[in-house]
This record gives sequence, C-alpha cells and structure tokens, in this order.
Amino acid sequence: MPSPKKGDELTVEIASAAFEGKSVARVEGYVLFVEGAVPGDEAVVKVLKTKKQYGEARLVDLLKPSPLRVSPRCPYAGTCGGCKWQHVEYAAQLRFKEQQVREAFERIGGFKDPHLLPMIGSDGIFFYRNKMEFSFSDKQWLTELPVTDRPSIAPPLYLGLHVPQRYDKVLDIHECHLQSPESTAILNFTRSFARASGLPVYSTETHSGFFRFLVVRQSKRTEDLMVNLVTFEDRLDVMRKYAGELRREVPQVTTIVNTINDKKAQIAFGDRERVVYGDGVIRERLGRHMFTISAGSFFQTNTVQAERLYGVAKEFAALTGRETVYDLYSGTGTIALFVADAAAHVVGIESVERSVRDAEVNARENRITNCTFITGDLKDRLTEQAGWMSSYARPDVLIIDPPRSGMHPDVVQAILNLEVPRIVYISCNPATQARDAAVLCREAYRLVKLQPVDMFPHTYHIESVALFERSTPQSR
Ligand SMILES: C[S@@+](CC[C@H](N)C(=O)[O-])C[C@H]1O[C@@H](n2cnc3c(N)ncnc32)[C@H](O)[C@@H]1O
Repeated sequence: MPSPKKGDELTVEIASAAFEGKSVARVEGYVLFVEGAVPGDEAVVKVLKTKKQYGEARLVDLLKPSPLRVSPRCPYAGTCGGCKWQHVEYAAQLRFKEQQVREAFERIGGFKDPHLLPMIGSDGIFFYRNKMEFSFSDKQWLTELPVTDRPSIAPPLYLGLHVPQRYDKVLDIHECHLQSPESTAILNFTRSFARASGLPVYSTETHSGFFRFLVVRQSKRTEDLMVNLVTFEDRLDVMRKYAGELRREVPQVTTIVNTINDKKAQIAFGDRERVVYGDGVIRERLGRHMFTISAGSFFQTNTVQAERLYGVAKEFAALTGRETVYDLYSGTGTIALFVADAAAHVVGIESVERSVRDAEVNARENRITNCTFITGDLKDRLTEQAGWMSSYARPDVLIIDPPRSGMHPDVVQAILNLEVPRIVYISCNPATQARDAAVLCREAYRLVKLQPVDMFPHTYHIESVALFERSTPQSR
C-alpha cells in the first residue's frame, strides 16, 4: 500500500503514546501522529499532513474505544489547551510520560540505559494548580460542545484558554478543574465585569484595547488568593471599580494586582505592576519554609508535587552540611532555601531581578543566613562576569533548573569548566535535558539516575531530575 496522502481517511489501531499528547498509529510501517486518540483505540483517522518520515492525523470516528479511556470530568477536556489526557486513566498517563522520558534520553541523548526510575505520580489529580493564566480575546473558538454563553455583545470579549496552535482565539470556558472553585468564580466574574465595562480586548493588530490576561494565584497551604489583571492601559478608575466588585463577589480574594503590559508581546508580564488591594503577594509553604510570591515571579505551579520534586533533588545532591552549592536558574530561591539546611553555603543565580529580590526576602523571612542570590544571565555570570566566584568556595554540587529551552551551549561549557563533582539537573522538558545530558556525558560526566515526577496530571508536561557524577572517561 502506498504511503497515506493528505485527506485520506484510514481505519487504524493506535499503538502507543507520543509527544504533546498525540498517539502513534502505523500504516504499513509509516508513522502517523494522531491527535485526540488513545493507545488501544481502534479508530478512523483523517490524514492532515504528510512528510517523508511521518504524517499527522486527527481522530474522526472511534470504532472501538481503548480500555484506557475514562470519562473526563470537564466538558472542555481535549479542546482547551489545558488537559489533553483527562480522558485517559491516570496510571496510563504516568506510563506514557515515563516512556517519553526514556525515549528522549535514548534517541536524543544517545543513552543506552538512562537508569530511569518509576515516575512519581500525584496524589491529587484535580485542583492541583496554584496558578492559572486565562487570556482575553475578541475571537471565540467554537466547539461542537454546548457553549453556555454566546452573547451578541459589542465589543466581543471572551475569556478562557487558548486552543493549541490558535493564539488568536480562546475557548470561552466557564469551569476549570485545575485550580479551585474560587478560581472559576473569579474567571466568570471577570468576564462579566469586562463585558459590562464596554472596554475592548487588546489587539496585537491595532496595538490598542484594554484587557489582556487574568492570572489567579492561590496558595495551597495558606488562605492567600491573588488576582492579577493584565491590561494594556493604566486605568486606575477601572481597576478600583473591578477590585470593589470582585471583593464583594469573591470575598476570599486577599490581594488584587494590575500588571500593565504596553508592549506587543502577548505575555502576562509587564514593566509596571500596581497593587490595587492587599499586599500584592501570596505566601506558600514548601517543606519547612514559607515563600512570598509576587505577581511576576516564577513559582512551581503544583505545590505538593514541587515538594516531592525538590525532595528528590535534595536526595540526589547527597549533602552532608559541608558543601558549597550553586543553584543555577534559582527563581525565587525555592530550591536554594529547600536544601540550605544541609549545605555550608548556597549561591543562587537568576536573571529576573524581581525573583532575586523575592529570594532574598524569602531567605530573611525564613531566617536562613547561608544563601546568597545573584542577578544575571548565566551565560555572563559563569563566564566574563564570574568575578563573584572568588568570594565563595568552589562548588561541590550544582543544582540546575533551566527553562524549557534547556541550557545555552555556553552555559553547558562553563559548567564543564567548573569541574563540579556532582550535578543535579531538574527539567520540564526531557528533550532539552537529554540534549544537554549528552554534552555533559560526552565530556566528563556519567548519568547516574533519572527520576521523573508528575507535576501536571492530565497534561503531557513532564518534569524530571537527573543526577550526574564527574567521572574519568573510562568509567563513563
Ligand atoms: C524553570 S524556572 C526555575 C526556578 C526555580 N529553580 C524554581 O524551582 O522555582 C527557570 C528560571 O530560570 C530563569 N532564567 C531563564 N533564563 C536564564 C538565564 N539565561 N540566566 C539566569 N536565569 C535564567 C527564569 O527567570 C526562571 O526563574
């Protein structure tokens, strides 16, 4: 049979899970990545795209459902960008993710055996997030699902989550099972307020409008609940009205912030941040420590699993109290402070000034005196701006937690030059972690073990912790 062509409808069996929530079907050896299917399904799929090596397809008719399927709790599951796998039993989700870590290390990293440990699952698989970011749009993504609210309003305004690959449209969601019922109440109130205000959504085309994002941060361990409305313009009158009405509608809200982003980049950050109500931060406990988090700071979004993740990192670091540790990409200092009681000194390095300030506050408030935080891009701070290193002992352990893109090649090289005996590498992207691991192990390290931790049930996101030890070439 010739390879499938675009537009073909084929009956296939879904063989396995692939990256980004897709599944694999094989048609006479030709690989199709299928959207919307589950391993074990027998289904009719429509071919959307073909390349020499593989094609992409979408499920159009489910002939025999996989035994791994379950009924999703949320009516939007599978459509919004949030939960891709809510219709798959949780134990299977964990197996799929573990397999993806293995494949990344084998295929991208070239490791024969990545010494992979079984995935650590999450006890709570709903309402586990401490942060949700909703987007405003004047274009709605319409689904075949019953949409509860399709008003003919002017100007058009929708608030929800982006469907994958459609950054102009949002699915106007009215419930979400990822954060909390209060978060849903805030979402629905904010939509009504925004519509009633008559102010338009910000448009990248005209570079004008008002509403951009709604970010809700809610502590899992304290009563703190922050609402951050990200707007294009600075309108204190609107924000005061919003804050007054929101507090009456959702009295659990403890602080309201207005981030003003007047740039084109569609991000929920901005140069200006105005606290409209409360103290502008939330407090979250991780392990024995309390952390203060401001609107612009990075903080792990699943508090309970973050504690487990950091627990793994601390165990891998095997600290005895005598070590100097560098915490690279330190954010608000959570990892540094988490391991501080087992180290002689911890130096955190982070590029976002505000996060560094938060880290310092967090150290002070937790009465931790053996941590120092330095602002800067690691590319510079480990190379031409590395003068700070002369003030500290050489590092015995590195704990690295880069963004999804992994480490810049110059940073990897600078790390190799440090000749640190032990490296603990936390990552939210196994592909870039495997790429960086390959360079470390080609030069001077051995991958000792790899522990995936599920921070994001129902999504395809994976977090994993790798331990590397410096070795002679023969022992690698
Ligand atoms: C995945 S987060 C880790 C944060 C922290 N370790 C934690 O668990 O909360 C990555 C952090 O790296 C910072 N970052 C990104 N690129 C950087 C760079 N080139 N140099 C220094 N820090 C960087 C980001 O601002 C962010 O805080």
